[in-house]
Amino acid sequence: MNFSEELKNRSEYAKSVLDSYIPEYTEFNKEILEAISYSLSTGGKRLRPVLINSVFRLYNGKEHQDEAFMAAMEMLHTYSLVHDDLPALDNDDIRRGLPTCHKKFGEAVAVLAGDGLLHLAYETAIKAFLNNNVDNVVTALQIFGDKTGLGGMFGGQSADVINTGKLLSDELLYYVYENKTAALIEGSMMIGAALAGATSSDILELEEIGSLIGLAFQIRDDILDEYGDEAVFGKPIHSDDRNNKKTYLSINGLEKSQKDVLDFTRKAIDKLDKIGNNEEEREFLKELFRYLTLRNI
Ligand code: IPE
Ligand code: IPE
Ligand code: MG
Ligand code: MG
Ligand code: MG
Repeated sequence: MNFSEELKNRSEYAKSVLDSYIPEYTEFNKEILEAISYSLSTGGKRLRPVLINSVFRLYNGKEHQDEAFMAAMEMLHTYSLVHDDLPALDNDDIRRGLPTCHKKFGEAVAVLAGDGLLHLAYETAIKAFLNNNVDNVVTALQIFGDKTGLGGMFGGQSADVINTGKLLSDELLYYVYENKTAALIEGSMMIGAALAGATSSDILELEEIGSLIGLAFQIRDDILDEYGDEAVFGKPIHSDDRNNKKTYLSINGLEKSQKDVLDFTRKAIDKLDKIGNNEEEREFLKELFRYLTLRNI
């Protein structure tokens, strides 16, 4: 397997699945749909749908049955980014190498586009009932709600924004990272497994693996925010500093941060050996985890 080619193919597949769930324009919703599809269609690694699909394959899931959730998770993630960039939050002008939604369409449209993406995410996830085992979809929807809402991404993002500029205790910093970032990564892996009918003990194991990968992912994001190349990273560097945000990197320093990214990832890779039943897919996931520790985008 040539990993980079495989990753590119999978990310393109995720994008084509996503495109197939974007609604058609009609006369009076043209502008909001333009803002929604601009935010969805421009760039992005498509990590979360790629994870759903990879874990789904790890359990030999039946082709296409994971697609509605692949699109739904990317929509929900994109809503979180559109709102995260707003002037009242991180106030960033560039995302995925292009002007942020509010820079291109104005603040009111960006607030609405984020809201619209959140609705669309649920409308899309519900479509999984059309071609899948009902019990598996119910489990996936429960995970989707838990990991995206107050007990997940939204809770972590809110705590992050509300505590910006303050000194964070270790517990609060962990809460923020575990939820604002790791929760969607955990949720993606758990949903892929649930849709393929994996056991609940495997789903719980994937929650732990996702947590380790998610924490490593956010710490790497902090490192790129400080040391990355804006042209490659696709978003403004030094955004955290400008917002006076205390991060894992600013609290722990570069050496420990880099070491922890590698340690957390190694632990996640070891845990992968205990679950799933498709060897080729397990290798892909391991390569993906290693790639994420070195990513520059
Ligand atoms: C950005 O996520 C938000 C964080 C949790 C750091 P990604 O780095 O996955 O962003 P895209 O989707 O590739 O643009
Ligand atoms: C955002 O964290 C996580 C979200 C829930 C959107 P960041 O604020 O670090 O994400 P980027 O760096 O803007 O993508
Ligand atoms: Mg933020
Ligand atoms: Mg931000
Ligand atoms: Mg960041």
